[in-house]
Amino acid sequence: MSNISLELDSCRHYLTEEHIKKAVDASRLLIEEVGEGNDFLGWKDLPFNIAEDYLGEVKRLADKFKACTYVVCIGIGGSYLGAKAIISALGDTFSPYKRRSRPFVLYAGNNLSEDYLYELVDLLKGESFGIINISKSGGTTEPAIAFRILNQLLIDQVGEQKARDLTVAVTSPISGSLRQYALKQNVSMIHIPEDVGGRFSVFTAVGLLPIAIEGYDIDRLLQGARDMQKTTISTHFESNISMQYAAVRNALYDAGRKIEILCSFRPKLRYFAEWWKQLFGESEGKCGKGIFPASANFSTDLHSIGQWIQEGERSIFETVISVDHTKHKLQIPSNDSNLDNLNYLSGRRLDEVNKSAETAAKLAHIDGNVPVIQIKMPTLEEYYLGQLIYFFEVAVAISGYMLDVNPFNQPGVEAYKVNMFALLGKPGYEEERNNILRRLKR
Ligand code: PA5
Repeated sequence: MSNISLELDSCRHYLTEEHIKKAVDASRLLIEEVGEGNDFLGWKDLPFNIAEDYLGEVKRLADKFKACTYVVCIGIGGSYLGAKAIISALGDTFSPYKRRSRPFVLYAGNNLSEDYLYELVDLLKGESFGIINISKSGGTTEPAIAFRILNQLLIDQVGEQKARDLTVAVTSPISGSLRQYALKQNVSMIHIPEDVGGRFSVFTAVGLLPIAIEGYDIDRLLQGARDMQKTTISTHFESNISMQYAAVRNALYDAGRKIEILCSFRPKLRYFAEWWKQLFGESEGKCGKGIFPASANFSTDLHSIGQWIQEGERSIFETVISVDHTKHKLQIPSNDSNLDNLNYLSGRRLDEVNKSAETAAKLAHIDGNVPVIQIKMPTLEEYYLGQLIYFFEVAVAISGYMLDVNPFNQPGVEAYKVNMFALLGKPGYEEERNNILRRLKR
């Protein structure tokens, strides 16, 4: 079976011996578990180590929701982006408007918008729905508020006991208010291993449960990750594509390319890019360092930021995810009048046109002095998506170590929370509240 591969043609010349050596050293830190943040390396062996019992429990919990029309996946950051990335990549783009026998997974708790939650509540009124509440710490404000509101709606609709049956908590096995809630209320609970951070948690119940609820094959997803693990947990540069990717993006960064744009010509990968942005942004952006992770959806964005990419400041490089095969086939019909002048395309597959746009953009961007990294995958299937997720997880760990940062913490995420709690008058934040109010009055 072919695998995900990496093409570095237009940027190989940026790679120096020093970058390759740094990448090998960084891989060693990861493999020997002696780098910073080494208490958060549980994700590394997860594809092989995940217990059959745990997987069985994920599938059993997914089955609980079979009769629901909707399941709301409550979580923020790493607690929802992986599931959303995979479900969007595998699903029918228009599934919300089509009939189907499986529940739809909807998302909440990733923002504080009143209109968003109001409209979600409005949709769920009178419908059969369940809730999976995902929070490793168990106390993150956005998901906690969403849960309070949606749980109340569920109780109002089906009563306390049934609401408990239709709820699953995915959280720490040790601490946190979500864990306490689940224990007290006798709500089903499945744990996130302590040594797996949020953005690295796709192969735990955080990602696997919503993906299984939507009916996708989590065994194939894990098989893909396992096969990628075999080649990327290695210090052999020539065969390790995660290491090559980490090395070349650091070489580009050192050459002044401070922004990486993850692009694809498949709208189904839009949320994959959101997952990727979190993975790289939270792992690398610290100590005044780090490539800024951006994304573009082509050809849509070729008609907007495409101009900037082609001719703007040369501080960017592109990483394109190219998918070889589509799921469906669609030919362009011929038309007798040919008023749109498209008969030269009659009988040709739309994918041929899309691939021509991809090649055309790649060449134009290289000509415009934008280095292009290409990641090729055969199809958008569970197996290859499992490979792709694991490929990026290893790459960001190596890349972070090359940059000399701890890729597994996110200290900067706390800054806005302190201000928000102070503004809202959370007990314990009195001093911060006084300071912030004084600052706002100035
Ligand atoms: O990657 C991370 O660790 C974060 O993005 C978390 O996933 C996010 O902040 C949510 O945290 P929690 O699951 O504790 O609610």
